[in-house]
Amino acid sequence: MIGDLPRPREWLAGAKPYRTESQPAEVRLQSNEWTEPTPLGRYLSPADLEDTILNRYPDIAAGELRKLVARRWGVTPDQIILGNGSNEVLLYTFLIFGGADRTLLVFTPTYTMYARLGRLTGMRVREERVGVPYALDAARVRDAVARVRPDVVCFSSPNNPTGDLVDDATILAAADAPRTLVLVDEAYAEFSGHTFLPRIAEQPNVVVARTFSKAQAAAGLRLGALVADRRIAATYEAARLPYNVGTLTQLVATRIVADEAGLAERVSAVVEERSRVERELRGLSAIEAFSSAANFVLFRHRAMAAAALHAALLERGVLVRDVSSWPDAGESLRATIGSRTENDRLLDALRDVLAERGR
Ligand SMILES: Cc1ncc(COP(=O)(O)O)c(C=O)c1O
Repeated sequence: MIGDLPRPREWLAGAKPYRTESQPAEVRLQSNEWTEPTPLGRYLSPADLEDTILNRYPDIAAGELRKLVARRWGVTPDQIILGNGSNEVLLYTFLIFGGADRTLLVFTPTYTMYARLGRLTGMRVREERVGVPYALDAARVRDAVARVRPDVVCFSSPNNPTGDLVDDATILAAADAPRTLVLVDEAYAEFSGHTFLPRIAEQPNVVVARTFSKAQAAAGLRLGALVADRRIAATYEAARLPYNVGTLTQLVATRIVADEAGLAERVSAVVEERSRVERELRGLSAIEAFSSAANFVLFRHRAMAAAALHAALLERGVLVRDVSSWPDAGESLRATIGSRTENDRLLDALRDVLAERGR
């Protein structure tokens, strides 16, 4: 009797939930998280637990947290919008600037949530097919923008899943049209050492999304942020759900922001391991590996399908992300940079698969 149920909008009727790989595995390198445990006790004392009260609503403006985050990023608190993960601030971007009769432009392969949120809000979605290697430059962007005339352009920089940094000139090529909203998703920026943030002041149509899920090692906390020109930020604040960031999240995040040394240590560990993993992967002649500015590496076997290589690694206890179903990602796999031991497990598993094929 499905015909009697209320009808969702057309796109949603056939839509599937967003899912990542959740198979059990000893070594989990599929979600670009920080792979070592972050115990809550690192940031909260027994006294904090007594003093944190749950019967009252949280600070609706998250004043203390926004102040600290703003100071860290060299902007003012009224330029910061917080969300339940950066996915929530991405959703606000589409609720505000998307919708029916508007056009989204993305450069594939890239983070699939942009196209998903575009369709969810009724936008036309235009995918400019860059492929792997991800050779995106200002000329390509300028040409696509002139053809598509988008209302919203999304970049992931560094780009998930390829790991490429999108340089400022390429972003500015999209931002040239002042009425186009350009979202720069910097979920992995800490690992690249580069950010577009200082340019927001002169480029008010560019907004930058950040997250606590990657270099801040707190994916379970669910905290993301958007940084925007203060007039644009005011619109986001008007669209934001009240109390979307809970009391516990606000408190823990203030402690995480203060832990500059912890962040620096994690970033340097990833940078060192990333170059080691890239070097080792390049030493395997059957594997093509791409340089990354993020905490993951994209690679592919020159002959073997992504699904088969993924399954063979999983049989050896290592779970990576098969991104071959993402538009224009080809037969690629994406592996998070984990601890040295985890990365060795990945490399050993790969060598074992290649040796078995060679036998
Ligand atoms: C490019 C990019 N943006 C956003 C997110 C989502 O992050 P959050 O956990 O802050 O919602 C991810 C997660 O993998 C990502 O890769």
